[in-house]
Amino acid sequence: MRIRALRPDDDRSAFRSDDDALDRFFHRYAGQNQFRHYLGVTYVAVEGDRILGFVTIAPRHVEIEDLPVKEQKKLPHYPIPVVGLARLAVDQSAQSTGVGGQFLRFVNLLAEKMADELGCAGVVVDAKPGAVEFYAKYGFTPFELVEGQSDARPRPTPMWLPMRAIKASRDALSESRLRRVAKGSVEAVGKLGYRRQLDILE
Ligand SMILES: CC(C)(COP(=O)(O)OP(=O)(O)OC[C@H]1O[C@@H](n2cnc3c(N)ncnc32)[C@H](O)[C@@H]1OP(=O)(O)O)[C@@H](O)C(=O)NCCC(=O)NCCS
Repeated sequence: MRIRALRPDDDRSAFRSDDDALDRFFHRYAGQNQFRHYLGVTYVAVEGDRILGFVTIAPRHVEIEDLPVKEQKKLPHYPIPVVGLARLAVDQSAQSTGVGGQFLRFVNLLAEKMADELGCAGVVVDAKPGAVEFYAKYGFTPFELVEGQSDARPRPTPMWLPMRAIKASRDALSESRLRRVAKGSVEAVGKLGYRRQLDILE
């Protein structure tokens, strides 16, 4: 499997996740948003011609007041640049095989690049109710408790992963990889639940 930017001639029509709205976005709008309007970039995980999943990202900012209180003390009081993880879905046939986790690591890499070249304080996602635990596994924390939610129309939970944590996790992984090579161990245990090999970083 590899992750690359969407191409205009990719056949997206066969893609099916568990979420009709995400599928519709991918089939109908991901291409025009990227190639005509330049609103964001969609990356796809592919095996040959088969699309296993996609993630769409775009630059965004968050207001300092929206961040967890302990973060507010560390940051200046103006809009904070972040990478927005706008959409993420994995084809039903490839779910629970690690594709979603690989996408999060990939997005962290892009965020790090943006931090080093333009400025970026972290990654932000509006997590659907069924995906909150997934993001939490990778170190994302909710901005705040969302009040007034109803079961009928559950709202997404804004969550974020600060750049500090992304860089610390990468340092821990590099160290772990060095130890692995030294000891011949096959296990890489990083912080924030980064338990799989970071093959996209190699
Ligand atoms: C949520 C989604 C992107 C996860 O992708 P995936 O490729 O199935 O996930 P992975 O196989 O990489 O799972 C990585 C880990 O997260 C866990 N996980 C996956 N989906 C989860 C979920 N919905 N809730 C809690 N944990 C989840 C896995 O058990 C795995 O844990 P492990 O490392 O301890 O084994 C995918 O299920 C999906 O496309 N869902 C429908 C669309 C959606 O909800 N998108 C999110 C929009 S905000």
